[in-house]
Amino acid sequence: MTFPVTRLRRLRREAVLRDVVRETTVSLDDLVMPLFVAPEALPNERLPGMARHTVEGLVREVEELVRLGVKAAILFGIPDEKDDEGSGAWVDDGIVQQALRALRPRFPELLLLTDVCLCEYTSHGHCGVIAADGHVDNDASLELLARTAVSHVEAGADVVCPSDMMDGRVGAIREQLPETPIVAYSAKYASAFYGPFREAADSAPAFGDRRGYQMDPGNVREALRECELDVAEGADVLMVKPALPYLDVLRAVRDRFDLPLAAYNVSGEYAMVKDAAAAGHLDEQAAALESLTAIKRAGADIVITYWAKDVATWL
Ligand code: PBG
Repeated sequence: MTFPVTRLRRLRREAVLRDVVRETTVSLDDLVMPLFVAPEALPNERLPGMARHTVEGLVREVEELVRLGVKAAILFGIPDEKDDEGSGAWVDDGIVQQALRALRPRFPELLLLTDVCLCEYTSHGHCGVIAADGHVDNDASLELLARTAVSHVEAGADVVCPSDMMDGRVGAIREQLPETPIVAYSAKYASAFYGPFREAADSAPAFGDRRGYQMDPGNVREALRECELDVAEGADVLMVKPALPYLDVLRAVRDRFDLPLAAYNVSGEYAMVKDAAAAGHLDEQAAALESLTAIKRAGADIVITYWAKDVATWL
């Protein structure tokens, strides 16, 4: 049947019609708000989602998030001092551990995820320890990452999210934490879109770049291999990161695997829309909701986004 009998505009006429036939929706159930905790606060007027909070400030911020209806947050820490190994990542009184101990008893209903990585904690800014040849030493980094994940869970984390891209890290964490959900940053690309995050988290590498461990932007079959390995090592949720430039990767992972799938709508994606809106080129709310809808339509079940707080006020 074709025109004039078939007229797809019939179902677009009224908002209520469009609502009943919508295939993909954005819900607060699916969103995770990233939060940065540091010894000193650092507000960010241009990118409010990227502000650093002290532990006390974080408690106030989370109070507001919970009141607005945000259900999950992922914590990133910026330590007092950095060293070669990144020991601030796993020490018992580390910044993320302090934040977890403050938040856990106050907000029992909030899902607390943590990013497990060493780059914010190492003096060189890489995501693992550096070997004599100047490259990141994969196997030596695994024990430190697992130790970090265990310390997060001991302090109250519900879910750990390894983002370092070392081979075998999901298995190394799974061995130590048989009962903790692991959201694996499985297909994490060496991306130019992490810029504002690295400023907020003070985690830019002091030399070189992350292409020796993060994925090449040209590859999608390799993303499926990364996911396959993470499934075999015991991951509970797979992740693709960034999101918008990698919607095809999300779709490919969705089609191949039955695990829940997360997408990280990263800092550069957020900043692009914020700056374009500030310049008057587009409407932030509409562009953000369209972006999040597209990420879900591509196959994501969960979206980590700096807009989670705003979405809670928009929906
Ligand atoms: C690594 C990590 C990064 C992001 C999340 N976890 C930075 C990186 O790999 O360089 C980026 C998130 C964003 O840009 O919003 N700990």
